[in-house]
Amino acid sequence: MAYNVNNFRRIREEYKEKYKKAEAEADVRRRELWGKIDGLRALDAALSATGPRLLNAILGKSGESFEKVKSDVERLNQERSLLLATYGFPPDYSDPRYECEKCRDSGYVDGEICECMKLRLRLAGYESSGIAKLMDTQSFETFKLDYYRTNQRSYENMSYVLRTMREYADNFNPDRSGNLLLLGGTGLGKTHLSTALAKALIDNGYDVVYTGAIGMIADFEQHRFGNSAGGESGNDLDRYYDCDLLIIDDLGAEVSNQFTVSTVYNVLNNRISLGLPTVISTNLNQNELNSRYWDRITSRILGEFRPLIFSGSDVRKLKLTE
Ligand SMILES: Nc1ncnc2c1ncn2[C@@H]1O[C@H](COP(=O)(O)OP(=O)(O)OP(=O)(O)O)[C@@H](O)[C@H]1O
Ligand SMILES: [Mg+2]
Ligand SMILES: [Zn+2]
Repeated sequence: MAYNVNNFRRIREEYKEKYKKAEAEADVRRRELWGKIDGLRALDAALSATGPRLLNAILGKSGESFEKVKSDVERLNQERSLLLATYGFPPDYSDPRYECEKCRDSGYVDGEICECMKLRLRLAGYESSGIAKLMDTQSFETFKLDYYRTNQRSYENMSYVLRTMREYADNFNPDRSGNLLLLGGTGLGKTHLSTALAKALIDNGYDVVYTGAIGMIADFEQHRFGNSAGGESGNDLDRYYDCDLLIIDDLGAEVSNQFTVSTVYNVLNNRISLGLPTVISTNLNQNELNSRYWDRITSRILGEFRPLIFSGSDVRKLKLTE
């Protein structure tokens, strides 16, 4: 697991703030009670003192027994509840109100990340992957093989494609998974399955970046011309190099020139040398890919990709007649 580092840092800060806020608000309520209820402040002081008393009893540093202090705690708590009730307050009125009782807004339970924080990280992962909107509709579950039934060969082929992508998702490991090249004409489900893959991996805690080839190149261009504000601007080029999985959608949609070709080369080359996987989808066929990019991309780099050929009829059009 490798949650996106920036998300992780930001969310941990959020939790610290959340925790502090819950404590501060509880403190305000406690002071409110002290102002309204005679003797409560002294009672709370006596309760606070039971912490060190308990410790000393355990260590044998005081004449008191552990049992004695424990029964004092119970008695004091009962007294406190009664006192609060007399004034019309519930017994837990000045307890901190955490959003998550399980981790008390610390984000951790027994050293493990709490479910609430995992969910928070997952949602942030959708956002930082660049596909938050697509994910609602494009998942493995919503991918229907029925669209390919008109042609038996397409049907069998697309069953194989779907199975392969699901297996890729299930067995994903950034240190071991290979690269995929999704080839095929328009409307055959390349983007749909790329999104589905991204979602499945983010749900498992991986750091995924999904980008159109055009958007990625624009980011590099902006950087090259020094327009980058860096950091928070979203133009953080390192993300392309070090995320667990980079998905480049629609390679070939960008204009082809020396800069765009070398940018793609540079990203793929870096990831391959780091041993990190990439998934590319493209409308171009192998020949078009070859003529469009320099040999150095096609021969060496694309050789590292496992091709998955999408076939059938344009699902976009089929959906229009539904
Ligand atoms: N098998 C499928 N089941 C359900 N919906 C699908 C399927 N295949 C494609 N779609 C839907 O059809 C539309 C087009 O699919 P998608 O965008 O994945 O095609 P594409 O192969 O990426 O096309 P392009 O090359 O034009 O980008 C999307 O809305 C997608 O959700
Ligand atoms: Mg597409
Ligand atoms: Zn929690």
